[in-house]
Amino acid sequence: MKDLSPVKADLDPIELASRDEIAALQLDRMKWSLRHAYDNVEMYRKRFDAAGVHPDDLKELKDLAKFPFTHKDDLRAHYPFGLAAVPKEKLVRIHASSGTTGKPTVVVYTQHDIDVWADTLARSLRASGLRAGDIVHNAYGYGLFTGGLGAHYGIEKLGATVVPMGGGQTEKQVQLITDFAPKGIMVTPSYMLNILEGFQKAGIDPRSASLEVGVFGAEPWTNAMRKEVEDAFDMHAVDIYGLSEIMGPGVANECVETKDGLHVWEDHYYPEIINPVTGEVVEDGEEGELVFTTLTKEGMPMIRYRTRDLTRLLPGTARSMRRMEKITGRSDDMIILRGVNVFPTQIEEQVMATDGLAPYFQIELYKSGRMDAMRVLVEANINAADAPSREAAAQVLTKRVKDMVGVSSEVVVGDPGSVARSQGKAVRVVDNRRKE
Ligand code: DLL
Repeated sequence: MKDLSPVKADLDPIELASRDEIAALQLDRMKWSLRHAYDNVEMYRKRFDAAGVHPDDLKELKDLAKFPFTHKDDLRAHYPFGLAAVPKEKLVRIHASSGTTGKPTVVVYTQHDIDVWADTLARSLRASGLRAGDIVHNAYGYGLFTGGLGAHYGIEKLGATVVPMGGGQTEKQVQLITDFAPKGIMVTPSYMLNILEGFQKAGIDPRSASLEVGVFGAEPWTNAMRKEVEDAFDMHAVDIYGLSEIMGPGVANECVETKDGLHVWEDHYYPEIINPVTGEVVEDGEEGELVFTTLTKEGMPMIRYRTRDLTRLLPGTARSMRRMEKITGRSDDMIILRGVNVFPTQIEEQVMATDGLAPYFQIELYKSGRMDAMRVLVEANINAADAPSREAAAQVLTKRVKDMVGVSSEVVVGDPGSVARSQGKAVRVVDNRRKE
């Protein structure tokens, strides 16, 4: 893998600023953001009043803890534009997430918001090792999802060339990557595995492809998956995080020179970690639920938005801004199986560590009598020489899941292609418990 460390002179000065400078900027911006939300969004005005707090009560950053949280349901309850803080004529973009039930959640942007988003995404790409003049293949989905267009504007802002491919059409992805020779690719990690499979089917060695770095996010993925993809393509794999409610992709990003967690661009997106049960802010270094407050967003400011994502905050390394550890999972995705908490990423780690299995998996929950039970659907890896038999691989994985994760499961090793493939975010868990 090539050394892609960025040149210090190319960074935004704030990325290397002192903590005092960052904190001073955050305090100014936070005051503005609370005031903007209070003055222009009825929900915030009513909530702050009910909680007996006013934007003027924020004297230092930690006073933010006095303000009430915002939840995903608040976006649904104010569907579609009830949380907009500017007149409709000022809006230049609307995104929405489909969600599995009920109304979509809608987010709106002013031109200034789109510019900040592009800037922070360009910063993310620079941290990933990309720069002006590079070609970047963008396979995040275009449309209402923030992934495609968010990445697109960031790539252009960096001064790089975007290939606006979008998700799906795996054969075409392989063809364009081969013909256009991009240096970077932006895509969900699970779809990157489909592209890998596309290379294998086309009989092209993925290590011979031009790719030097993949910027992977929109879903949880493990360091075991990082190694799998890095080895397969001989390229760097870095993590990009973001969410529509706060902006979209590029709220935090790993630095290619350290790959030690994601630096949060906290000059625009202020992070806190809370105890998800009590709502209390915990110290940096402690695990909990990630909460964000936007510091510069005009169209739809978010004050203390509860992401449901579980992680912890760590001091800066390659940049002065704090890092968040790679996300273990969302509290919503946590499976509770006979009292044991299980995240799909824990299963991913074990699948990746088992010889003879391909890196595709899905978890199925079902009823066995009155008990909840878990089945792990995986695939035999036909490309591995000296692979153990399917029965042996199944036994090894069953034992690993029992020993390392703490739950019993049935492992089914199917033919290559038997596990459902996704075009974007992978569906890791299929819950059939109510159907049986
Ligand atoms: O997934 C934005 C995005 C697009 C991020 C492309 C990165 C790349 P939403 O659809 O609103 O936005 O989903 C946000 O996805 O709360 C996390 O649960 C999850 N997520 C996003 N990035 C990561 C990541 C986009 N790097 C939700 N690791 C978030 C783990 C992630 N989970």
